[in-house]
Amino acid sequence: MSSTLFRTKKVEQSILDTEEPEHALKKSLSALDLTVFGVGVIIGTGIFVYTGSVAKTTAGPAISLSFVAAGVVCALAALCYAEFASTVPVAGSAYTFSYASIGELPAWIIGWDLVLEFALGTAVVAVGWSGYFRSFLVNNIGWHVPEVMGGRDGASGFGFDLFAALLVLVLTAVLVIGMKLSARVTQVVVAIKLVVVFIVIIAGAFIVDTANYHPYIPRSESAAAGGSLKAPLIQLMFGWAPSNFGVMGVFTGASIVFFAFIGFDVVATAAEETRNPQRDMPRGIIGSLFICTVLYVAVSIVVTGMQKYRELSVQAPLAEAFKATGHPWYAGVISFGATIGLITVCMILLLGQTRVFFAMSRDGLLPRFFSHTHPRFRTPYRPTILLGVIIAVVAGFTSLRTLGELVNIGTLFAFIVVAISVIILRRTRPDLHRAFRTPWVPVIPILSVCASLWLMLNLPAETWLRFAIWMVIGFLVYFLYGRTHSRLARDGETAVGEVTRPPNGGTP
Ligand code: ALA
Repeated sequence: MSSTLFRTKKVEQSILDTEEPEHALKKSLSALDLTVFGVGVIIGTGIFVYTGSVAKTTAGPAISLSFVAAGVVCALAALCYAEFASTVPVAGSAYTFSYASIGELPAWIIGWDLVLEFALGTAVVAVGWSGYFRSFLVNNIGWHVPEVMGGRDGASGFGFDLFAALLVLVLTAVLVIGMKLSARVTQVVVAIKLVVVFIVIIAGAFIVDTANYHPYIPRSESAAAGGSLKAPLIQLMFGWAPSNFGVMGVFTGASIVFFAFIGFDVVATAAEETRNPQRDMPRGIIGSLFICTVLYVAVSIVVTGMQKYRELSVQAPLAEAFKATGHPWYAGVISFGATIGLITVCMILLLGQTRVFFAMSRDGLLPRFFSHTHPRFRTPYRPTILLGVIIAVVAGFTSLRTLGELVNIGTLFAFIVVAISVIILRRTRPDLHRAFRTPWVPVIPILSVCASLWLMLNLPAETWLRFAIWMVIGFLVYFLYGRTHSRLARDGETAVGEVTRPPNGGTP
């Protein structure tokens, strides 16, 4: 049985699958498209919304260090993702990579995990967008949306976030129509979003009061009661009293603002739709991550310099900092830009989600019904529609913070699997052409594993519990369906042992 669980799909087979006309996606994206795509999904709720709450409650002005810490974790992971995306250029990201290296069960686990990351990530961003949109309606049209339409965060009893759900449904329709259309829309929206970010950095720099930076790392305070499960796992493991701020606050903050970086890995899910993936993938992944890291650190330094961290808004901190310092015009522009900008984030996460699902069904781990592309649009319309509807419902009933943490733990787990897979694939398939090679293997992948694990340990214990429950459900689905329906199981295309270590053992 263990041999079937660890059967691997040959990299060549993965690439061949993408060429079957019925299951093929259109190859139309360039390196620039990918970078725009990356920036389009990376800059979002993380910087627009979480910056305020994390500075206010967890890290103080040192949130800029939290962004640096999270950026380093992502940079290490990006170096690993880039090698895989340039070697195995097929839809599905970390899922496909691990199918080619570690085996079917780990691949299933990672695919299941990515479904969590992208689906809940889409829901989180849709809810964040809806908050900005409602404030935009209040400020510009004077329409106060009834609380019952504000979702879980707004309503005291029952609430359904209608705008969040509608946004997801509209974007689902756009994705069904086609990739190229969405790439064009993305470019315009990314431009608006970047203008907003530059306004914050440049205009805000003139309003900074350096007194707001003291203390830069506020002294550690014991956390308000909320049950021990709410404390970071690392604090529970070592029996520390739950606390906020201080040096540990910088890392707890990093584990939350990490959400702001999610998305560079989504670039890898579009590998199959890229004209020259070997060359363009690494450029798209690393380029977009680098640009965003620089912008985040700059934005967080400026915003915590404009307003005392304790006074920052938790809903729209970038806009409110301008309003609080007597610049309402800038606040209006920023709210408008954020409303527009969050749309692309939502759209690209939804796209990544459908591509992973598509790849898993093409491999038979989920019903093959979902892997047929649309005869005219050539898009995987079935999973797009199914997941779009489910996510719209989730977004309608969802609360932001908890889901954000769950998305983060899932993504960090995927980073770990990818890093390990780089080392394994170097040993098992040293012959494969790698247009981009992760430097200093195995040192960088090992550092990537440790860094991702460290951030995971800084997430609340209850997040670990929820993640474990999701994974148990995933195991059940695999053993009840995927293991017997998998394409490898049916065709007997390859089995573990077929991909063996080369005689010289390979050089990692
Ligand atoms: N990084 C994206 C955001 O912050 C997901 O919204």
